[in-house]
Amino acid sequence: MKKVKVLIVVGSPRKRGNSSSLARQVAAGAEAAGAAVETYYLHGMKIKPCNACDARRKKPGAGCVLKDDMRKLYPKLRSADAIVVASPVYWFTVSAQTKLFMDRWYALGSDDGYELAGKRFGIVMTYADADPFVSGAVNALRTFQDACRFLGAEIVGMVYGSAWRAGEILRNKSVMKEAYALGKKLTEIK
Ligand SMILES: Cc1cc2nc3c(=O)[nH]c(=O)nc-3n(C[C@H](O)[C@H](O)[C@H](O)COP(=O)(O)O)c2cc1C
Repeated sequence: MKKVKVLIVVGSPRKRGNSSSLARQVAAGAEAAGAAVETYYLHGMKIKPCNACDARRKKPGAGCVLKDDMRKLYPKLRSADAIVVASPVYWFTVSAQTKLFMDRWYALGSDDGYELAGKRFGIVMTYADADPFVSGAVNALRTFQDACRFLGAEIVGMVYGSAWRAGEILRNKSVMKEAYALGKKLTEIK
């Protein structure tokens, strides 16, 4: 049987931080369920802002004109069955690294819709304030709800928790369990 492909993209500069820790749990859950998991850390990758050239729409099949590390990620996005975006909340929304990456999904769209349609999404979010509304986590999570509705993609689950210092989330056993369960659930393709 074909292995389910799970692509995990982390938008925190802290490789041992909270969103990365939850992302690793998602990966562990998905791998235990037999999936092939690949993880990319956006921080350190060269990802330019979308320049709105619309080249892709003018010339179908052209792809994104920008020459940077998104060239590695576009094929991964296309071939993944499930995509996990893990981000800290920065200034009441996703981190800038995550936003640059998301803006570049624009090049996956055409008059026929988006190449991300039908993908299964998992969203992971960490933030320092105890309250998800006050922290801005709700804004960030709502962004993904709107984006996935627009793309025609399904959100399989959203895992989010409060933590400040890098790795603090490891002490939150229930959110760690949720992240592992999300990894498993992402592989359950009917
Ligand atoms: C630049 C910056 C902006 C932040 N903005 C917020 C915020 O708006 N709301 C919040 O609750 N926490 C905010 N935080 C705290 C982080 O979201 C929190 O520490 C999170 O757990 C970091 O996740 P990470 O370890 O995956 O990087 C901010 C942290 C930084 C460095």
